[in-house]
Amino acid sequence: MITAQIQTAAYLFASILFILSLGGLSSQESAKRGVFYGIIGMIIAILSTVLGEGVEGHAYIIAAIAIASVIGIIVARKVEMTSMPQLVAILHSFVGLAAVLVGYGSYLDPATECLVDANETGTHNNAESIIHLVEIFIGVFIGAITFTGSIIAWGKLEGKIRSKPLLYPGRHMVNIILVIVSIILGVLFTMADGTEGLIYLYLMTAIAFFIGVMLVMAIGGADMPVVVSMLNSYSGWAAAAAGFMLSNDLLIVTGALVGSSGAILSIIMCDAMNRSFLSVIFGGFGDAPSGEAKEMEGEVTSITHEEVGELLKEANSVVIVPGYGMAVAKAQYPIHEMVDILKKAGKEVRFGIHPVAGRLPGHMNVLLAEANVPYDIVLEMDEINEDMPKTDVIMVIGANDIVNPGAQEDPSSPIYGMPVIEVWKAKKVIVMKRSMAVGYAGVENPLFYKENTDMLYGDAKVSVDKINTALKA
Ligand code: TAP
Repeated sequence: MITAQIQTAAYLFASILFILSLGGLSSQESAKRGVFYGIIGMIIAILSTVLGEGVEGHAYIIAAIAIASVIGIIVARKVEMTSMPQLVAILHSFVGLAAVLVGYGSYLDPATECLVDANETGTHNNAESIIHLVEIFIGVFIGAITFTGSIIAWGKLEGKIRSKPLLYPGRHMVNIILVIVSIILGVLFTMADGTEGLIYLYLMTAIAFFIGVMLVMAIGGADMPVVVSMLNSYSGWAAAAAGFMLSNDLLIVTGALVGSSGAILSIIMCDAMNRSFLSVIFGGFGDAPSGEAKEMEGEVTSITHEEVGELLKEANSVVIVPGYGMAVAKAQYPIHEMVDILKKAGKEVRFGIHPVAGRLPGHMNVLLAEANVPYDIVLEMDEINEDMPKTDVIMVIGANDIVNPGAQEDPSSPIYGMPVIEVWKAKKVIVMKRSMAVGYAGVENPLFYKENTDMLYGDAKVSVDKINTALKA
């Protein structure tokens, strides 16, 4: 058992560790340290809560933590990088559900006196008790939306629910009316006595579950990564609300950190895709591309692995631009080998990373770090773009939308305005993918038709292996 003072000090220490953790995650060099701070902070948070005053049933709590930890370790070890968004989505649903349960628990807890008859005792007339009821109501509302919204996001990402947006006329109006009804229920809830209040709480929970389903059903599967990041933000606010209900400062701080970082990340992702945040989170709000799509001009030419090997042998500077296909093919390991061979031959080799390459923020950076590619040759889009004209060979490996010149040249393109890596400005571009198929945004890529571009068809890993063999020959 620890005293309340020690618990407060432990919470403060854990909060500092969480802030340091977020700071650490902002760069590749310090990311491991950031994760370490997060783990220590969480251990301190859990221990100081479980050992705190008034906590009973330690055996049950320890058993639950042990079972959950084993499940967590197994799931985290098994999950593929490409399935990470689904895992994150389902974990957010747990946070949402936890906030709902904490809300009900707090309402039913005799110690909080929420259930007493307001008229007889006048308990609900004091400001503190009304504030507590408002905390419960808001916490349950956000938690319930997060819970069902995250389950639908998981279903769409996993292919269990059709990814096409479910759009029906007047749906924004329906959502607004449901929110207004919830607000009215909230007012009634704070004025009602115990059992009557419970009915308002049930009604609002059902409405919030429905809003969560409808909000995410209206968003196309393609926008799910942004939705997951936004649900991350919601789950943070739900946790912060639970912190208010339980008068737990650490939960409030942690929830606010998650809530605000999730919101910032969603906005950064939307900016990098040149999408409006509102159009993504409410689904189909304006933003439709106008006019006819531009005809592709030029001829597509292909190249062999041996020819690529020769090109690389002659080049002085090489830039590799990886995309989602590299993740699918797990090509990062042979790519690291290729980099080593080229560097030993005295070439300048660097990576150009687009902020939304792949399907997760930092997707490419994580994969390259996993294959031990040195961080100092991995550059951001803005850092590498100005070097394009003096680069001899660009290797576009499993990327498509992020190198599409249409984003700058074709106002009718759905991705017009999205910042892209200007690979076409280099002397020679090799595009490695399996076919002429479109990428995530579903748009044709004029890069494949450019004179200085050659296509190298095939799985990215198989292709890089073959190029390595050619380089060693
Ligand atoms: P994409 O535009 O999706 O293109 C990936 C390409 O990889 C495909 O055209 C595919 O062509 C190829 N490919 C797939 N499997 C392959 C394999 N085994 N070997 C070789 N190539 C393979 O990817 P990108 O260029 O990385 O762009 C990312 C897209 O995701 C952007 O549109 C972005 O807006 C969107 N997005 C990203 C995020 C984040 S945070 N990263 C979030 C939301 C949306 P083939 O089928 O012909 O092989």
